[in-house]
Formats: sequence, C-alpha cells, structure tokens
Amino acid sequence: MTQADTFPPGQRVGWIEFIKIILFGEKFDPLAYARGMSDEYGSFTYSRFGNIEVYQVADPELTHEILVERTAEFHKGIMKSAFEPFAGNGLLTSEGDFWKRQRKLAQPAFHYRRIESYAEAMIAHTEQMLDKWRSGQTVLIDREMMKLTLAIVAKTLFNADVSGDADRVGVLLNHILDAANERLNAPIRLPDWMPTPRRISQRRTIAELDAIINRVISERRASGADEGDLLSMLLLAQDEDGERMNDKQLRDEAMTLFLAGHETTANALTWAWYLLAQHPDVLAKMQAELDSVLGGRVPTLADLPNLPYNEMVIKETMRLFPPAPGLSRSPYQDLELGGHRVPKNALMQISIYAMHRSSRYFEQPDAFIPERFSAENEKHIPRYAYLPFGGGPRVCIGNQFAIMEARLILALVGSRFELALVPGQQVVPQQMLTLRPRESFAMRVTARQPQTQPQLELA
Ligand code: HEM
Repeated sequence: MTQADTFPPGQRVGWIEFIKIILFGEKFDPLAYARGMSDEYGSFTYSRFGNIEVYQVADPELTHEILVERTAEFHKGIMKSAFEPFAGNGLLTSEGDFWKRQRKLAQPAFHYRRIESYAEAMIAHTEQMLDKWRSGQTVLIDREMMKLTLAIVAKTLFNADVSGDADRVGVLLNHILDAANERLNAPIRLPDWMPTPRRISQRRTIAELDAIINRVISERRASGADEGDLLSMLLLAQDEDGERMNDKQLRDEAMTLFLAGHETTANALTWAWYLLAQHPDVLAKMQAELDSVLGGRVPTLADLPNLPYNEMVIKETMRLFPPAPGLSRSPYQDLELGGHRVPKNALMQISIYAMHRSSRYFEQPDAFIPERFSAENEKHIPRYAYLPFGGGPRVCIGNQFAIMEARLILALVGSRFELALVPGQQVVPQQMLTLRPRESFAMRVTARQPQTQPQLELA
C-alpha cells in the first residue's frame, strides 16, 4: 500500500458517541475540535463521525495548493448546499463559467475608487448610531454592529434605505443565516421536499425578504436611473454577448451580498470591542493614536494611512476570531493531496481558525498582540497562514470594503466612546458559517473626551 492510498492521520468517532452528539448535543465544540485535530495530528487530518468523513486542512501550503494552484479541481461542496436554497446561484455559491461571468460583472462595484465613495455613508450611519448612545447606558454590542453593517450594505450597494425595514430585514436575514447554518451543521438531513414546521417558516422568511429585495429591484428598473451603486452596475452590465441579468439572477446576487456583506464585518467589530475591553494597554494605545490623528473630529478615508495601529487591531482580531472560520471545498474527482488520496466529493474543510491559532505559524497563538501586524512583523507571517478573506480567485470580493468599513467604525466609535464588558456574562464563540458570540452580550458605553491637545515633546 502506498501512502497515497492511506487516510491522513486522524481519528474515528464511533457511532454511539456520534449519536449522543446528534441527539443530545453532547459537548461538541467544532472550534476546539478543529484546533485539537491540528495540534494533535498535524496540518492535514482525517475524521470520521459515524459515516461522515471530514478532511481538514490547516496548512498554508496545502491551502495555497487548493485555493490557487489547483482551484479548478474543487467545488464549494457543503457550503454550496447550505446556501443555495436561500442565496440561489449568487457569487458565493455559483461555479465555473457562470461564476466567472458574474464576478466580472460585480467586480467594478468593489474597485478601490468606487469603495472610496462609500466611506461617507459608512461614517454617516455610524454617527446615527452614536447619536442614540447615551453615556453610561448598556448596549447589546453584537446587535448594534449587525444593524449598522446591514444599513451600510443596503445604502452603499443598493442605495436602499432599509431603515424603515431595518429591524425586520435584520431578523429575516438572521433567520436565513441560522437556517443555512443548520443545513451546514446537521449531520442527518430529511429530504428537502419534506415540509417540517421549521422549513415552512423558513420559506415564509425567504418570501418576505424576496418581496423587499424585489421591490428595490423593480423600483430601480422602473426609474431607469443609474445611481452609481452596485445594483445599477448589475442592472446595466452586459456580458460579451450583450446579455443582461434577469430578475432572478439579480435577486440571487442581492441576497448573497446582503448575507455575505454584513454579518462577517459585524462579527469582526464585535470581537474587536470584546478584546479591547480586556486589554487596556491595547485600548490605550489605540485611543492615543486616534486622539493624536483625529483630535476628536470625524475620521475620513484620508486619515486611515495615519492610523496604522487601528488596522493592526482589526487584523489581529480577525486572526483570533476569523469571521469566516472555515472554507469548505470538495474535489470534482478522486485526487491526491499532500500524499494522500481524497475521494470525489469528499467533505474538506480548510480550517482558518485552526491555522490562525496554531503555534506552528504564530508565537503565543492565543494572545492578543496587534503588533504582530506591524509592517515589519507582518512580513514574517508565513504566506497563506493568515487568511481571513480566503484566497485565490474566490477570495472575498468585499475584502477592501470590509477592512475600510471596520477601520472607520472602529476609529469613530473608539474616539467617542469607551466600551466595557458588563460583568457576569459568559461570552462564548460559536462556529456557525460565521464565528459569532453564542449569545448576545452587553457592553457599557461611556462617552470619552478625546485628547485634543497635541502631545508636547519636551526637548
Ligand atoms: C470581515 C468581513 C468579511 C470576511 C471575514 C469575509 C470572508 C470571506 C471569505 C473567507 C470568503 C471566501 C469563501 C470561500 O472561498 O469559500 C468570502 C467570499 C465572499 N465575500 Fe466576504 N467577507 C467579509 C466581508 C464581505 C463583504 C463586506 C462583502 C460584500 C459587500 C462580502 C462578499 C463576499 C462574496 C460575494 C464572496 C464570494 C466571492 C466569490 O466567490 O467570487 N464579504 N468572504
């Protein structure tokens, strides 16, 4: 037997234990599991749960091989089946030539020049949120961040004001994300045609959300106006054959961007506030930078190059809590990878979380040290060991959008308020499609007086 016929190192979880996990939700923590596998068995591992096999990759070079060098040999696997019922054939789930065409059509909306014009909306919505905050009050920080990023996506990409429907749209999108998570994580699934009560309610949710999205699309079609936003670009874009997108395709892309474009960024910010509250030294350094550059005024895009520490904080937060903790892929055909055979359609998981928390690639992997991302230190991080936005041709289309948004929000909120965790709460990260807190948590927000005097340097 050659090595290519063997499984990567790993373990089998027997049927009895597997059934206990399914039926009683017995202490199975996918994050701890992914990391444990990588620590114990290495960077390419195999697990079998009952009859389900999972190949986990937590290795920068193999990741590069899958996402870049051999990208055409893999499809999106289980992620596709989790999302398709909700997001249809949008950018996140489509494949092959169809995906290529759509990506080309959508790409101009994410060019840096275009994104620059979104900065004002990002700031304006953040100010609206802060106008409602009262010093000393507590807020559920994850919900605040979700509402904010949702309003920003709606405004910048669709020029739609969802403020009237914001709470409802937020609830509906969350419901859909929960449903997609469930599909992703359910080890046993009833056939899709079976109308369980949960599925009936999910269908209602999709219908309600579709109605909102379709309203936005048809209003725009009717007005024929080029609002210069993503929706206009998608409506007006033609491929080489002069074809335009139909309503169904527009709806799928819009739903995908709503889903992919707000919760991830909200999670990054939520975890940033959580970490900052527990690391006063980092918080103080961030505040000092904000005060010396902004002196209390509202940040603009032009300030970002002068706020390097603010970027390091976001990057380090996404290392410890990657908003997309894993990427799923499956081979189109049996293939060999890392010296092992991986069968056609096998479930593969590139564990970004396990890589980010591995001492193979990061010293003190659990410590919050933004300085790892200083221009000098960042060079020493192995290529493809830090991948919050994925890589290769399917890299996140919204990555610059998200970084800019997170940095502006962090800067504006951080210069006006200090956020402290309300004691007595247990904040537990939960791996779903995204990495979010299992329960909402409260933070006390206290207005701060930015230091407006330039620091005098004594000769
Ligand atoms: C911190 C925030 C974000 C994180 C961590 C994140 C992460 C990711 C990752 C890891 C992927 C690759 C998935 C894969 O290869 O299977 C991805 C894809 C994608 N993301 Fe993001 N994302 C973020 C924000 C956004 C935003 C703001 C948007 C849109 C406004 C967006 C839209 C998309 C889309 C459309 C794709 C699919 C791209 C394609 O396959 O062509 N994301 N994202």
